[in-house]
Amino acid sequence: MGRPTSELASSFLGLLLLLLCCPQGCPGRAEPPAPPDKIAIIGAGIGGTSAAYYLRQKFGKDVKIDVFERGEVGGRLATETLDGREYEAGGSIIHPLNLHMKRFVKDLGLSAVEGSSGLMGVYDGEKLVFEESRWFIINIMKLIWQYGFQFLRMHMWVEDVLDKFMRIYRYQSHDYAFSSVEKLLHALGGDEFVGMFNRTLLDTLEKAGFSEKFLNEIVTPVMRVNYAQSLDINGFVGAVSLSSAGSGLWAVEGGNKLVCSGLLQASKSNLLRGSVMSIEEKKKTKQAGNPSKMYEVVYQIGSEIHSGFYDIVLVATPLHQKMSNITFLNFDPPIADFHQYYQPLVTTLIKGQLNTTLFSSRALDNFDLSAILTTDNPDLFIYSIGMQHPVKAKDHLEPTDGKNVWKIFSQDILTKQQISKLFLSYDYAVKKPWLAYPHYTPPEKCPSIILHDRLYYLNGIEFAASAMEMSAIAGYNTALLAYHRWNGHTDMIDQEGLYEKLKTEL
Ligand SMILES: Cc1cc2nc3c(=O)[nH]c(=O)nc-3n(C[C@H](O)[C@H](O)[C@H](O)COP(=O)(O)OP(=O)(O)OC[C@H]3O[C@@H](n4cnc5c(N)ncnc54)[C@H](O)[C@@H]3O)c2cc1C
Ligand SMILES: *[C@@H]1O[C@H](CO)[C@@H](O)[C@H](O)[C@H]1NC(C)=O
Ligand SMILES: *[C@@H]1O[C@H](CO)[C@@H](O)[C@H](O)[C@H]1NC(C)=O
Ligand SMILES: *[C@@H]1O[C@H](CO)[C@@H](O)[C@H](O)[C@H]1NC(C)=O
Repeated sequence: MGRPTSELASSFLGLLLLLLCCPQGCPGRAEPPAPPDKIAIIGAGIGGTSAAYYLRQKFGKDVKIDVFERGEVGGRLATETLDGREYEAGGSIIHPLNLHMKRFVKDLGLSAVEGSSGLMGVYDGEKLVFEESRWFIINIMKLIWQYGFQFLRMHMWVEDVLDKFMRIYRYQSHDYAFSSVEKLLHALGGDEFVGMFNRTLLDTLEKAGFSEKFLNEIVTPVMRVNYAQSLDINGFVGAVSLSSAGSGLWAVEGGNKLVCSGLLQASKSNLLRGSVMSIEEKKKTKQAGNPSKMYEVVYQIGSEIHSGFYDIVLVATPLHQKMSNITFLNFDPPIADFHQYYQPLVTTLIKGQLNTTLFSSRALDNFDLSAILTTDNPDLFIYSIGMQHPVKAKDHLEPTDGKNVWKIFSQDILTKQQISKLFLSYDYAVKKPWLAYPHYTPPEKCPSIILHDRLYYLNGIEFAASAMEMSAIAGYNTALLAYHRWNGHTDMIDQEGLYEKLKTEL
């Protein structure tokens, strides 16, 4: 609880200094401060690059924006090449109502492709407990037959959460910012939203009267494919995850990571291919005169160590030693590792012929599922397996050899034996291990956005839910927050009753 008070104290001090600094008498309305000279962003994933895009819009053309990236631009949006074609290996699927992603694609002149729309089945280690049909009406009847009207109620619950969630777009288009993830979510859905962090999805859905069968056979498999966890995750990320079970899902033609490189270019930022090692606040004399406080960012390119001074710093990567390893030097109170646990996950891409009799005793030609999710059975060594199309439409050809490309999510790297259990034969396999997203353990507390005066952190939002759109929302929010705090626009931060206020404004 130390931070809000010290925040207050420092802004009070700022006001005092401002009053002392104009002995000739200050004008009634303070001049807007000069824009910052330099801003650093650490991480060129969707969070960092969307922040760069909006920072440029807010602060204008003169500010110098450096984006540090030690790996590939795109971060967890990445492709892997198999048999000469590229496939999504990280974040793949975008919801039709993810409006920031949609706008980026439009603004950048990219195009969208439909997400794979095949049929889905759920495997429990012995048999398929649920199987989609080609016929919409049969699906509905199957669902009602097996689970009563629960799927409809589930759909309504998710729609309600989504409906409130959509308010963020209106707030952001009116330039409003939030200083914490909890405040942002509170502005969307009040105590109900924030309360979802405190309870597991299981708890939330059991209270709402959903049956164990429905939870095990439908909801759990969706959580496993999206977040490699079960019903023990928080209710909010659970709802986000369930919303991906709808229709109209899409991806970016050529690969989702193109959004990141596009935003980087459009923002006219300077990409520094190096690894940031430490951040420290130091006194620095600018050309103009008085010494002011800046952040020194120390980074490594190859074996050389460099450093630069910045007015504002945005950390757009999880503060997790294995993922970013950034040391914050001499901050009071100290800024430490948040001890966040990220879920290990392996993406394996295989071109081969699936042994379909493993899942269903029906003949090979009758097997028309293109995605198989799994229940929470400890004997299963995969979370899911699904047929995958290349990211480029021109590479999208029907295989002549009967061998499709499949994408498997598993906790560990698959052994040869495990792969041959799943496939009759295969030619190629590539694997990509991730620390994919937070391991959710409600009650959840999201790490701070404001780490220090002008030092911000984007990835706390992942503890509400990790998704491309969430990082884009955090990127926009942080850009607005940094801008308003720089200019002293406190009336644009953490406003109560925004929904009502903006409703009457339009
Ligand atoms: C397998 C998988 C499947 C997923 N599926 C989906 C999906 O279908 N839909 C969806 O919406 N989301 C999905 N996600 C989640 C989504 O990919 C992430 O939430 C999102 O990409 C996170 O973006 P980010 O910019 O916040 O972080 P990141 O993409 O992790 O970016 C951080 C960047 O910072 C760089 N970096 C770290 N430390 C340093 C340092 N010290 N110096 C310089 N650079 C540094 C890293 O190299 C990285 O590029 C999936 C994730 C995974 C792993
Ligand atoms: C959630 O739990 C925390 C304690 O873990 C509590 O302080 C907070 O008030 C709770 N929030 C809601 C909305 O229930
Ligand atoms: C983190 O960085 C320090 C030096 O800055 C280094 O000694 C250490 O090995 C790094 N740890 C990891 C896990 O990369
Ligand atoms: C395919 O899987 C089934 C069920 O596990 C198994 O009985 C069969 O031997 C497998 N087929 C081949 C060719 O490996």
